[in-house]
Amino acid sequence: MKTISLVNIKGGVGKTISSVNLAACLALKNKKTLLIDIDPQSNSTQYLDRYDPNGLSSYDVLMDKDLNLKEVIKSTGVIGLDIIPANIKMIMLENEIIADTKRSRENRLSRALKKIEDEYDFCIIDCPPSLGVITTNALVASKYVLVPIKIDQFALDGFNYLMQTINQIIDEFNPDLKFTGAFITMDKRTSVNRDIKQQLKEELKDKVFNSSIRENVKVTQSTFLLKPVVIYDKKCIASKDYEAFTNEVLYNIR
Ligand SMILES: Nc1ncnc2c1ncn2[C@@H]1O[C@H](COP(=O)(O)OP(=O)(O)O)[C@@H](O)[C@H]1O
Ligand SMILES: [Mg+2]
Repeated sequence: MKTISLVNIKGGVGKTISSVNLAACLALKNKKTLLIDIDPQSNSTQYLDRYDPNGLSSYDVLMDKDLNLKEVIKSTGVIGLDIIPANIKMIMLENEIIADTKRSRENRLSRALKKIEDEYDFCIIDCPPSLGVITTNALVASKYVLVPIKIDQFALDGFNYLMQTINQIIDEFNPDLKFTGAFITMDKRTSVNRDIKQQLKEELKDKVFNSSIRENVKVTQSTFLLKPVVIYDKKCIASKDYEAFTNEVLYNIR
């Protein structure tokens, strides 16, 4: 199982939309895929219409080391794509993990996933917009990190801090972790976007994906219909971009 986290300190940059559509594209390519929603906001769980405030969730995966993961994994409307959902119980999860001094904090997800390593080709983790203990668990459990970037005046705020954190996690906990690259979401193809993309390429060199995801109203529509855009409208520009992006991810982690 190849595990990929989508991380950015900022919210609203396309982590959730990209996690769900990357996972759906992989499933469409007949790769058995598990999506883990580890963000208390539970948006990818809602996007796939699997939200249950009282059900088992990533909360239980991180708090109960004896949990049978089969009980928490749900199938989705996309063939070949399963989900470990998030729910509202996760709001206090960071504090609870920190208060639970009898167990280590950082490797809980990684340990849990070892049990199902052979059952999936890919695992995609949709992270919260922070670098607390939840995101650390995702990065310790991952082999690859992708960073979605929405271009605006503040696009690169916190980026250096994120890279430092990734490097610390490599040093402290997970020498296998690789920063696979940053990619642009909600791309407007204006001259400002082109300039910032150029700047990003100068800073990150080959760590910027060639494919970017164009802004497209079909994405917003798909969130209301509770279906990944790549399923809802396969031919729209965002779906074509996610398809190209998925191919590039597969190439970069081959
Ligand atoms: N390609 C796109 N075109 C149009 N809207 C988009 C696109 N990607 C994301 N959005 C919208 O941007 C908002 C934030 O995206 P989301 O994936 O939830 O960000 P994050 O998970 O980083 O907070 C959502 O309302 C989503 O519908
Ligand atoms: Mg999100």
